[in-house]
Amino acid sequence: MSNYHIKHLEEYFNVYRKSVRDPELFWEEIAEEHFVWRKRWDTVLEWDFKKPEIKWFQGAKLNITENCIDRHLAANGDKTAILFEPNDPAELAQQITYKQLSERVNQFANVLKSKGIQKGDRVCIYLPMIPELAISLLACARIGAIHSVVFAGFSSTALATRINDSDCKMVITADGSYRGSKAIDLKGIVDEGLTHCSSVESVLVVKRTNAAIKMIDGRDEWLQPILDDASIVCEAEIMDAEDPLFILYTSGSTGQPKGMVHTTAGYMVYTAYSFKNVFQYRPNDIYWCTADIGWITGHSYIVYGPLANGATTVMFEGVPSYPDCGRFWEIIEKHKITQFYTAPTAIRALAKEHMDFVTKHDLSSLKVLGTVGEPINEEAWHWYNDNVGKKKSPIVDTWWQTETGGIMISPLPGITATIPTYATLPLPGIQPALIGDDGQEIKGNQVDGKLCIKFPWPSIARTIWGNHDRYRETYFSAYENMYFTGDGALRDEVGYYRITGRVDDVIIVSGHNLGTAPIEDAINEHPAVAESAIVGFPHDIKGSVLYGFITLKETGEGRNHENLRKEINQIISEHIGSIAKLDKIQFTAGLPKTRSGKIMRRILRKIACNEMENLGDISTLLNPECVDEIIKERL
Ligand code: WT7
Repeated sequence: MSNYHIKHLEEYFNVYRKSVRDPELFWEEIAEEHFVWRKRWDTVLEWDFKKPEIKWFQGAKLNITENCIDRHLAANGDKTAILFEPNDPAELAQQITYKQLSERVNQFANVLKSKGIQKGDRVCIYLPMIPELAISLLACARIGAIHSVVFAGFSSTALATRINDSDCKMVITADGSYRGSKAIDLKGIVDEGLTHCSSVESVLVVKRTNAAIKMIDGRDEWLQPILDDASIVCEAEIMDAEDPLFILYTSGSTGQPKGMVHTTAGYMVYTAYSFKNVFQYRPNDIYWCTADIGWITGHSYIVYGPLANGATTVMFEGVPSYPDCGRFWEIIEKHKITQFYTAPTAIRALAKEHMDFVTKHDLSSLKVLGTVGEPINEEAWHWYNDNVGKKKSPIVDTWWQTETGGIMISPLPGITATIPTYATLPLPGIQPALIGDDGQEIKGNQVDGKLCIKFPWPSIARTIWGNHDRYRETYFSAYENMYFTGDGALRDEVGYYRITGRVDDVIIVSGHNLGTAPIEDAINEHPAVAESAIVGFPHDIKGSVLYGFITLKETGEGRNHENLRKEINQIISEHIGSIAKLDKIQFTAGLPKTRSGKIMRRILRKIACNEMENLGDISTLLNPECVDEIIKERL
């Protein structure tokens, strides 16, 4: 027996031990008993972290949509696969059964084929949270096209960069999107972005807002009329285990985002397995993850993981504050949600609102609560536990990354005893290690260090699209034979992990990963700006916000600083998106630098966080005098 579903703590420890003792046997049994394959694998795992090269289930043939859809049809064709809750509560929710999902995915897949999309082609998806988003991912997977979803809050420049990086042949978008009381001109953003993209041959447009938009002849087409003519039958393309399933971009320490490549079999096995266990999903549960499918959380735990388990997965188009701040709780009551998975930033924002928003709704259907994206502070954890879970729904604080594909460290609800701010224990198959300043692994408990993973797991990203060197550099060069996560962590006296945050130049704002480099690159394009440095500082709702230290080309006299601040944030919105706007902008005559010219962000971070007492030795700086001025004019 493969222990696909862990039910109690002793079983977890047994399964975990087995997964470390013999990872290949462990994953092979799970793969064998819980998925459908067109051909069995020849080897379970081949790996070399030096190259790095990681291959799971080599030789196997499959299609992930047969696992997520077709195999459920006989017994569960009429079960709801996707439950769509629109932005406007007056609009009816939609229940899409597995049978209907099958038909809609196949039709969409046939449309892609008719537009010349073939196995291996890249398709960019830039859609709001409407059913067509999930369906378009699955339609790509059906025919072996590689999807690259770009979060529909990103700007036209960010969209164009991502389309060009992977030479997408097609863009799937909508006329517009709803966000609360606002409608956003998505198609206009696409049109603007595509003026910088030569690889795109066609654009399929979903009608959502009925906004008047421009359709470009020979390039743009409305989706619905072509869908209506398409057959509901589409043979699944038979894929190799290691064929790419999708690319998803994440920010890094240079301006160019990293296109993380996830492949087929391992990703499927791990997301399905982790979904089942972390949410303890049972057949009649109604599971809701509030993330956007534009992030990895949505890929793995709205679409692939839940559907591979034949689950009912909720897609919510709107925002937590519309029409009022009770929307999440209203939806939980309306659909009798059993598992609710959201981000600490949303919890902190809603905890600030009047308690009536929560108490007027019946939340008794809830069994499991989850969080993801950043460390959850103790206060938010207790608020969530007391008011949403009423102390009877365990909170799973799930730690993972775009790169890991699935949840790595998390309690199993009702099984692992939880402690606020602790992600607790690794899932089976995950072997964490903490590394000290000397580069050596720190054994034992009550220690802290940089968090690495010692052994491959099935859903690890295999490369960065078009840049395998950067993949090696970023994740496998810091420590020999280890995957380096970029996070720091501590392990307490019982072996529980607590993630302490990033140890690199990535700042997490409202759960979104922002690299400092791309923001600085954008700011530096302003003609008046000489140099800039961005650091994060704590914020009670967003977790962190951005503080920019900016030097101007001229002393700045004659320039209105308020206008400059607006212009700088405008440039950031255009290049990256409004999520990356700076909360504070301080103009300064100089930035602290090492003698080799490297900006000392560590000092700026301390100043921004008002921790001036321990700036460390600044006498070795190239320009120590600028530090006093920066402190004096701190905002
Ligand atoms: C980074 C990855 C995984 C999906 C969403 C984010 C931080 C994530 C937690 C958590 C503390 C967390 C880490 C990680 N993070 N979950 N439960 N506790 N920190 O994916 O955008 O790739 O960001 O988010 O710093 O490295 P991502």
